[in-house]
Amino acid sequence: MFQEYCLVLATDSANYSPADPNYLVIAYLVAAILFILSLGGLSRHESARKGNLCGVLGILIAIGATLFVGVVPGSEAGDWIKPSILPAIWAAIVIGAGIGVFVAHRVQMTSMPQLVAILHSFVGLAAVLVGLSNQLDPTHISMPPIDVKEARMEEWIHKIEIFLGVFIGGITFTGSIVAFGKLDGRVSSKPLTIPGRHLFNLAMVLVCVGLGYWFLQTENPAENMWALYLMTAISFVVGAHLVLAIGGADMPVVVSMLNSYSGWAAAATGFMLKNDLLIITGALVGSSGAILSYIMCAAMNRSFISVILGGFGSDGGAAPAPASSGEKLSYNEMQAEEVAESLRDAKNVVIVPGYGMAVAQAQHPIREISEALKKNGTTTRFAIHPVAGRLPGHMNVLLAEARVPYDVVLEMDEINDDFPDTDVVLVVGANDIVNPSAETDPSSPIYGMPVLQAWKAAQVVILKRSMGTGYSGIDNPLFYNENSAMLFGDAKSSVDQILQKLKS
Ligand code: TAP
Repeated sequence: MFQEYCLVLATDSANYSPADPNYLVIAYLVAAILFILSLGGLSRHESARKGNLCGVLGILIAIGATLFVGVVPGSEAGDWIKPSILPAIWAAIVIGAGIGVFVAHRVQMTSMPQLVAILHSFVGLAAVLVGLSNQLDPTHISMPPIDVKEARMEEWIHKIEIFLGVFIGGITFTGSIVAFGKLDGRVSSKPLTIPGRHLFNLAMVLVCVGLGYWFLQTENPAENMWALYLMTAISFVVGAHLVLAIGGADMPVVVSMLNSYSGWAAAATGFMLKNDLLIITGALVGSSGAILSYIMCAAMNRSFISVILGGFGSDGGAAPAPASSGEKLSYNEMQAEEVAESLRDAKNVVIVPGYGMAVAQAQHPIREISEALKKNGTTTRFAIHPVAGRLPGHMNVLLAEARVPYDVVLEMDEINDDFPDTDVVLVVGANDIVNPSAETDPSSPIYGMPVLQAWKAAQVVILKRSMGTGYSGIDNPLFYNENSAMLFGDAKSSVDQILQKLKS
């Protein structure tokens, strides 16, 4: 049954003949299955490597098949890649791959969200450029070539594809650039809340709808292009404005929302180019990004609708708050030797890794500490908050890299109830994710965000360099509790010292 389906799908329906399979469609089908396996694999750390490999294989098959079938004269998709542009395509592939390898080697794990954001902007820009060029010259890049004399209905559908593709692409392009700027600290993370901003957004969208109507009705290519260019400019403004209106603490969700938008932009490009694989891949990215955003909104107790509409119905998302009220609070301090002693006496230890562990690259000695404690008979587990670090799964990746066994790495929901029975919690370069004001202070920008209830343990030791704030820019009352103590210094050197004392 499946074989028959593949054969029908893989064969030009107009000239069905089992002896003449459409290799391009078969290759696309294989690539699409690999992409689905890739997404499935990436959802669990144990299978993430295989998932990544499936994705790489899928993209190689997709590019290889497109190039191969495209240049073979008389092949079923038609020789739609003109030999004269082949050198340009190869040059683009080599330059793009070169830049990709260079950037992937250089980028720090802590800068990943910025990188992801800027990559989304490329997808958005590609959708805009494909849309504009498709309208300017439909015969050049359509695959297979579009017959301009086709029925009016088909022309309309194609125009809608172009208009929507450019609109979504434009929003994704500038939204991602602003997200990059905010994550990289080049643009203020404070939400831009201009008066009447929702009305402004609505007015822009309504103007775009009007331009779309004009675009569909008008036969004159010059007038068509004018409407398309104007809508493109408006979509750029809407994209930038939507993300500017979102506060710093909501940026993780925005990045995954832009991931979703970039998927829909790619799917729209697929419709424009009549390319099934782009449609499938775009839909996969679009829907998985939307699901991830939803899960992250739930993890941070944010309204999904509010975040995707640029803080609609809220004050624009959580903004950084003043670091402290000015009141000088006292806190306890500990040295590495005392921390090692506490750990030696403990029966139950929980380690909470955060962004500071990633910055200090302290995951390897932390694994050694957990092994030393295990040898000592101490139950040692890791507690992972869904938004710990700067991108989803950040801590899981670092701990997996340090070969921490998966069975001792627990998600927030799995471990939160165990804190009252924990002797020592080691907070390594984490701040917001263990901030009790998320539960106790309704005026806090992170109020409502679920946090790791580290303060319920018998003793909490916080490893960081100063009393400085975390990403949300707010003070953390946990640091001033009686059962809390600070161990100041770079997380790697503090962890190394504790390890040394534990071993001696
Ligand atoms: P943060 O709240 O940002 O706190 C990290 C702490 O690490 C800082 O207070 C800093 O204090 C300390 N630190 C930095 N470098 C250090 C070093 N070399 N050695 C020791 N300590 C160091 O991190 P978190 O607790 O992981 O919370 C994550 C935050 O980031 C949340 O607010 C979340 O919303 C946001 N965010 C998350 C994501 C995703 S998807 N995960 C994406 C973007 C933003 P000192 O400067 O005093 O050392």
